[in-house]
Amino acid sequence: MHAAVCGSVLGLSALLVPDTARPATDPVPERQALMKQLGQQMKAAGNLANGQTPWGAAQAKAVADAVAQSGQTARGLFPPASANDPKTNAAGAVWQNRSDFDKRLAQMSTLARTMGKADTQAAFRASFQDLSATCKSCHDVYRKKKS
Ligand code: HEC
Repeated sequence: MHAAVCGSVLGLSALLVPDTARPATDPVPERQALMKQLGQQMKAAGNLANGQTPWGAAQAKAVADAVAQSGQTARGLFPPASANDPKTNAAGAVWQNRSDFDKRLAQMSTLARTMGKADTQAAFRASFQDLSATCKSCHDVYRKKKS
């Protein structure tokens, strides 16, 4: 009985391994989910910046690292083949100016890492504002306007 339960758990995790290791097969929903997650991370960071969540340097670093990581992950989720996917709100400019697009993602991660080093709430707040500006400035150029 016990062994059977164990066996089925092992079987399940074996099934899950190749799944988590697979490359992006449907990059549009994956990058949209990642961007949504970025929105949540920025909301958490904003709450720390404005004191709605009690200030803590460790929490600040954790949320900043998460944003930095998302910036790195995003780079791999914009393959050229996804440019004309009907689900995407990414503008064609992403693939026409790919190096600028990638540079902006890298810049976002760099600013997030700087934000993670803030040791006061005031420094964190200033960094948070710089970081927020990178979201909007990229969307202005590389995301289709909502009609
Ligand atoms: C380098 C450019 C770039 C940066 C920087 C960037 N985004 Fe985006 N974002 C995009 C693009 C392109 C899309 C559209 C993706 C698609 O539909 O394929 C998008 C979509 C989104 C969406 C909508 C996702 C959905 O449900 O369709 C949200 C929310 C979002 N971004 C939040 C953020 C936040 C918050 C930041 C900053 C921390 C940020 N983004 C930084 C390019 C960027």
